[in-house]
Order: sequence, then C-alpha cells, then structure tokens
Amino acid sequence: MNSARHQGSTEITELILEAAANARSEIGFVDKQPATGKAVNWPIDCNIGPGLEGAIACESKVGYVNGTDGLLSYRGYDIFELCAHSTYEEVSFLLLHGHLPTRTELYAYEQKLIRYRHMNKTLRLLMSFPVEEMNAMAAMRMGTIFMRREFSDIDQEQAKPDFNDAISADEDSIAMETKPHGDSRAIYEFKKKKKRRKKSSPELDDASGLEACYHLIAGVPTITAAISRLRQGLMPYEPLNDLSHAANLFYMFNGRRPTAIEERVLDVTLILHADHGMNASTFAAMVVASTLSDIYFSVGSGIAALNGPLHGGANERVLHTLREVGSPERAKAWVKRSLKENQKIPGFGHRVYKTYDPRARILGPLAKYRCLGCAVDIQQLINTAENVEHEVVGSLGKDKKIFPNVDYYSGVVYTRLGIDPAMFTPLFAVSRVAGWTARVLEYMQNNRIFRPRALYTGKFNLPFTNLDER
Ligand SMILES: CC(C)(COP(=O)(O)OP(=O)(O)OC[C@H]1O[C@@H](n2cnc3c(N)ncnc32)[C@H](O)[C@@H]1OP(=O)(O)O)[C@@H](O)C(=O)NCCC(=O)NCCS
Repeated sequence: MNSARHQGSTEITELILEAAANARSEIGFVDKQPATGKAVNWPIDCNIGPGLEGAIACESKVGYVNGTDGLLSYRGYDIFELCAHSTYEEVSFLLLHGHLPTRTELYAYEQKLIRYRHMNKTLRLLMSFPVEEMNAMAAMRMGTIFMRREFSDIDQEQAKPDFNDAISADEDSIAMETKPHGDSRAIYEFKKKKKRRKKSSPELDDASGLEACYHLIAGVPTITAAISRLRQGLMPYEPLNDLSHAANLFYMFNGRRPTAIEERVLDVTLILHADHGMNASTFAAMVVASTLSDIYFSVGSGIAALNGPLHGGANERVLHTLREVGSPERAKAWVKRSLKENQKIPGFGHRVYKTYDPRARILGPLAKYRCLGCAVDIQQLINTAENVEHEVVGSLGKDKKIFPNVDYYSGVVYTRLGIDPAMFTPLFAVSRVAGWTARVLEYMQNNRIFRPRALYTGKFNLPFTNLDER
C-alpha cells in the first residue's frame, strides 16, 4: 500500500472501500471473478455483429471487463483495490509490465516519468500553431507527433522497420467469396516472432519500445496542460520535479500545488480511466500499431478515436446537461420530458455495462466529497446530479438496464478540481495512454496486421457511362 502518499487522504481511501463493499454485497463479487482466463486455441468461432461486436481479435492479459456484473480489473487486480491502495504511477507500471513494481522499480520508473515530463522542444513546436483556436484533442494529437520527433530517429531510412521481420497478412489477395483462411498459415504467421528494429543511433530509443511508452505516459500530461493554458491565452507552466504524476498534472493546469485531497482525487480519476478492454480508441491504437507504424502514431490514433461523441466527450455534455436542468427541483420534470422525447441522457447507459459501472460507483462519492474544492454553484450541481440519477435509474434501471457510467460524475469531479470542461476528454486521454500503450506492446509480441473484411452488397457489371452522358 502506498501509505506515505495516502496519508493526507485516508478519508478518500475509506470512501473507496465503502463503495467497494457496497458493490461486493450487491453483486456477490468474490464468486463472480473467474480465477484465471483460458488460453485461446486459434482459430476460434464467435458470433460477430456489425462494428465487430462480439468479435475476439486477440488474447490479452492487460485488463478484464464484465459488463453483466459490473467488474473491472487491471492485470488481475480489482479496480476498487487499485483505487484504494495504489497510485497512477504504480498502475501504469502494472499495465505495461504485468506486475506491481517493487520499491526499486517504482523509484526508477518515477524518476523516468519526471525526466520525460519536460517537453521543451515539443512545446516550442506546439506554440508555433494557433492552439487557442484548435479543438483540444486535435492539438493533443498534433503534440504526440511532435513528441515523436523529440524521441525517435525512425524517419531515417536505416531505422525503418524491416517488413521481412514482420507478419505480412493483407488478405486483399483472398477473393471475397473465399472463406476466411484463419487456418494453419494464419497461425504460423501469428506465432512468428518479431525481431527488434535496428537503431541508427544508440542514444535514441525505439519508437515502438517500452521507453517510448514511458515518454508518452509522462509527456502527454505536459502537452495537455499546456494546451489548456494556451487556450486561455496563457503561457504553460514548467513541470515540477518534486510532485507526483497527479499533483504535477494538477499544478500544470491550475498553477498551484494541490492539497492532499485534490492530488488523491485526481490520482484516482487517472487510475479509473487507465484501461477499459477493446474499446474503440484502444482498438484504433492497436490497428495502427499492427501495421508496424510506431507507438506515437498509435497513441495519436487513440486520441482521434476518443474525440468522437460516442466515446469520449460525454462527461463534458453531462456538465452542460446538469446546467441546463438548472436545479434539483427541476430534475424530475426534465428527465420525464427528455425520455418522452426519446433523448439519450449523457452519462447514462453503456455498451458493455448493463449494471452500475464500477467506475461510477467510485466517482459518485468523490464528486460529492465535502472536502474537495468547491465553486459557488457546485453544491447545486451535485444535488441536481443526484436527483437526475434518481429519476433516470428509477425509470430505466430495471427494464433497460440504464445506470450512470464513468462519465456521469467525472465532469463534476473535474469541475471541483478547477478544470475547464473543454479539457475533460483530453484528461481522459492523458490517463488512457497507459492502457493504449500496454495493449499495443502486448499485441506486438505476436503481431498480426488487423484485416477484417466487408461483405460486398453492391452491384456488379454496370456499363460504364461517359462523363457527358451522366
Ligand atoms: C453509451 C451508449 C451509446 C450505449 O449504447 P447501447 O448499449 O448500444 O444502448 P442502445 O443505444 O441500444 O440503447 C438501449 C435502450 O436504452 C435506451 N438508452 C440508452 N442509453 C440511454 C440514455 N443515456 N438515456 C436514455 N435512454 C437510453 C435507448 O434509447 C434504447 O431504448 P429502446 O430499446 O427503447 O430503443 C448509450 O447508452 C448512450 O448513448 N449513452 C449516452 C452517452 C454516454 O453517456 N456515452 C458515454 C459512454 S461511457
């Protein structure tokens, strides 16, 4: 347990343990967790819906999500345990390496993250663009590409990946009518070992290696906080070396050191958003990596996918919704009218969870925690959120299995930490870099380029019409 770091925030630990106890008593937690997963014997049969729903694309030991029972674990550790006892530094190490760090490993890792916080070249490049006029996620994506320049020599000819080392499997060569191979040849390719890339310069690291993952985990927060400042027409703050990952992130956003409670709350939100199965942004990052592009391009693609309103972005809309509702007394009528108009209420429902999202079980109490910084209208916002939740769960919980998701209370938490709504989705990305990189690294151990197929339902043999005759 990270007791030194959590000394000033034991009430937060208690609050998380209480949320865990509630979840456990509701879902019979211990019996629900499988002891270990099963190894997959490729090729496998699975029912696939549109958008690859239900498709199993790879094996993973990074994280487990069970939407029916509301379970989430990273590398075998339950999310409630990690939030109560760990830190983002430990959790990101765990995701990347598969085990909790020893004291020595943790110290070395933390030192590395502190070193990589400093992004002077990247910030200089970023500031030469009109960041204040850009969508924050677009600026972040650009920032990761500038980070790539800071770190990698991969654009030099001799450092490019050798395609002979890789598994080439673009099945465009297979006629659409042919049943997918997925047979012995595919398995052979899947198992083929990837050789390491040649480095053209010993001091520069491989842009698809572990070091690049550390660089991104440490550097994306600096870019994000700088974007937040630049959007306000202000200069970025220089990172502070004596602060934890979360405390430094808070500092770079707000220009003051956080209290122990603020640091801990931000740390917990970072842990909660670090990984979540094969969601769209993780898959996007993995697809890009599978072409032997590098981890910077992969993370940039994860950011692009997260930008969509069906993925990230709901937390910002939750805040606007709560402000639109206006007051706790208006919640009932507002929910009734929205449901009558068939509107989807932001922050409710989930593609995977058909019960309480375990992350919402933690974020709810954090949003309401009395000792967290409080703007004037915040109590009103919290009471409104509680009433809206009560009405939505009362109307849709039992039949449609609609409950609060991770985004419902995260916006309120971020607001209490002094963060501008436009930066909510970027903050999600800051944390998710750990999950994206961990899953990409894992997948690259047995890389096979992603290549699903589309079922052609168009026409054939149309006579060509000349331009003038169309
Ligand atoms: C997340 C989401 C896309 C999941 O979609 P899904 O599992 O495919 O669920 P569906 O869109 O098929 O909805 C199933 C039913 O629940 C209803 N429903 C789902 N989410 C709802 C919401 N937030 N508010 C009101 N009704 C909702 C749908 O209208 C649908 O009703 P119907 O069966 O009468 O048509 C969806 O719940 C949503 O849009 N939520 C709001 C946005 C949000 O919070 N996104 C962040 C997710 S982390």
